Amino acid sequence: MVSTKTVLGGFEFDNCLMNAAGVWCMTKEELEEVKDSVAGTFVTKTATLDYRAGNPEPRYQNVPLGSINSMGLPNQGLTYYLDYLLELQEREPERTFFLSLVGMSPNETHTILKQVEASNFNGLVELNLSCPNVPGKPQIAYDFEMTEQILSEVFQYFTKPLGIKLPPYFDIVHFDQAAAIFNQFPLRFVNCVNSIGNGLYIEDESVVIKPKNGFGGIGGEYIKPTALANVHAFYQRLKPEIQIIGTGGVLTGRDAFEHILCGASMVQLGTTLQKEGMEAFQRITEELKAIMAEKGYEKLADFRGKLQYID
Ligand code: DHB
Repeated sequence: MVSTKTVLGGFEFDNCLMNAAGVWCMTKEELEEVKDSVAGTFVTKTATLDYRAGNPEPRYQNVPLGSINSMGLPNQGLTYYLDYLLELQEREPERTFFLSLVGMSPNETHTILKQVEASNFNGLVELNLSCPNVPGKPQIAYDFEMTEQILSEVFQYFTKPLGIKLPPYFDIVHFDQAAAIFNQFPLRFVNCVNSIGNGLYIEDESVVIKPKNGFGGIGGEYIKPTALANVHAFYQRLKPEIQIIGTGGVLTGRDAFEHILCGASMVQLGTTLQKEGMEAFQRITEELKAIMAEKGYEKLADFRGKLQYID
């Protein structure tokens, strides 16, 4: 019997596939749909302290090889997602869900995390260090000094299971420097990768999204090699207690298989879920199971991280 169940941060999940933050997760109704699908769990839209309308539309476009977005962190505000998760954990106490969050400033991040710490929330928190789309705000995770400072402050008071969402890095020295920072902290996971920030897509003579004169985060088929490289680079460098979530360019079971081969313990669908809808979970799960069966693998641990090199 082939199984795609997994363990992350000490919690068990029936399937290793879930949504990526930003897709199918803005409202309770969308989150319930992911919950009731074959996905192993869900993550909420990244919450800020207060409701945000986000950037002007059009702010997301599907394109042939992926997507481009500059949403600008539209979300219902922390209380909406936290209250829903508190109610859900009463209703489904045997399952575990992810709350994504980040403040509009370091202070706001601390305010949010202290509120989560003080609550009864017993799931996993994903701190998003990689939002590329708020005009005037650089991505936290590209500033290593800031990243180290925020994590040092957070772990002075935060005791619940916490991981971080990362942007792609493109230099071996940056993998080394980032991993050296993350290894200092009791992180449960890193999620590689968020969109490749600030690409530009042109149709005829025009950009296709309105914010930032068309610049936006790139997802989908374009980004799989970068995503796999980041998953594997951190799998090689992080202490084993910090697990990896693989996100980026998962269109097929083969893509999910490759993320797991690179070291991922959980795999997220972003652009593919946006383009194909909830059926993607079933299709990709079946495709992944077929590959495992053909290769004689019964569980993810049989091939996780076992990427082969050429001598
Ligand atoms: C948004 C985009 C991201 O890639 C992210 O990590 C958080 C927010 C956005 O534009 O809403």
